Amino acid sequence: MFKTGNPVTGKDFIDRKKHLPLFKTYIEQNQSFMIKAPRRFGKTSIVKHLLENKDEYEFIYIDVKRVSSLKSLANKIIDSAYKISSIDNFLYKAKNSMFDLIKSIQNIKLDDIAEVTIKISQENNIDEVEYFLHSLDVVNSIAIKKNINIKLAFDEFQDILKIASPDILDKSRSVMQHHNNVTYIFLGSIESIMTKIFEHKTSAFFHFATIVELPPLDIDELYDYAQKVFQIKSIKIDGLKEVLEYLKGHPDYSLQLLQKLYFNALANETTILNKEDVYNTLVDVITNNKAYIEELISKSKQKKHNLDVLYSIANNTKSNLDSKTLYNVHSSLEDMGLIKRVSVGKYKINDIFLEIYLLQKDDNLILNYTNKT
Ligand SMILES: Nc1ncnc2c1ncn2[C@@H]1O[C@H](COP(=O)(O)OP(=O)(O)O)[C@@H](O)[C@H]1O
Ligand SMILES: [Mg+2]
Repeated sequence: MFKTGNPVTGKDFIDRKKHLPLFKTYIEQNQSFMIKAPRRFGKTSIVKHLLENKDEYEFIYIDVKRVSSLKSLANKIIDSAYKISSIDNFLYKAKNSMFDLIKSIQNIKLDDIAEVTIKISQENNIDEVEYFLHSLDVVNSIAIKKNINIKLAFDEFQDILKIASPDILDKSRSVMQHHNNVTYIFLGSIESIMTKIFEHKTSAFFHFATIVELPPLDIDELYDYAQKVFQIKSIKIDGLKEVLEYLKGHPDYSLQLLQKLYFNALANETTILNKEDVYNTLVDVITNNKAYIEELISKSKQKKHNLDVLYSIANNTKSNLDSKTLYNVHSSLEDMGLIKRVSVGKYKINDIFLEIYLLQKDDNLILNYTNKT
């Protein structure tokens, strides 16, 4: 149905007919790839949907945003990798039941690499970088041993720069490029930083992974899917296509709206929602996301001029900052994932509700939408 709040997989996943086959092919062909798209665009969903519950391959999924150090990132990779070799809680056992652990290692004939893991993980002054690079090697070694290809997905990969110094990128790449039995998948919400890591000639990961941008949901696909769900309950919605178009295929906001429409109809036992109902539901959804939008705004204010420039982008007015300052402000807003460059000197706000919020100050709330309908 219309699931919100968490990444969606399986039957809740609305087919991205244009992208799914492509990503699937990369995975099947062991081609490493990188997906960049703003927050809430469905990156995590698509990757989990492709990897989870598949018999064909093993995968490790790590959300870099959720780890607080390079060491805990390595711990996660190591435990996940040995788990693929049927050893659960490797690091815990290394601490607490070494005897059992050694027996299981010998059983699966992973002595050489596992002994290194045990040794490094128990050093007092662990070299985090060395340990992390070793964790990558573990994945490849286990894949070789099992004669498989392991998919290793790093979600919010750019956040590795928050837990390690920038040279981690060069070091990782030089290790990863020898891993013939691992397919690396990198996801990132901060497109400008992902670009810097992967796409410039001097980037650490230049030419390492195929790069894909993930656009919003296809509106026709989304509309058809929604119509089918509504039809089962004989619900008719006036102006559904228009409101989906207004949301520009934004996966998260569109799904929130659809879910609300659906639940409203069911709860009120009505089968017809008119334009006013749809409008009110849209306002509801915007209101529900206010806290998130305010968080984006307050984050943007960390730097001087950021908010002014956001306003001028949203309202399509000219900023009166000098060009050097303006350049810096644009870079800072891009590195926060708030704006995206569309052409030379031209930017757009990534989040449609943030854009509405910024317009709102001129009493323009949802004007675009009401004008259209
Ligand atoms: N293919 C999809 N089908 C249905 N809903 C989706 C899809 N992709 C994204 N969504 C909706 O968008 C929300 C955000 O998706 P998520 O994968 O967490 O985005 P990201 O990882 O880019 O931040 C999900 O909770 C879900 O409601
Ligand atoms: Mg995500």
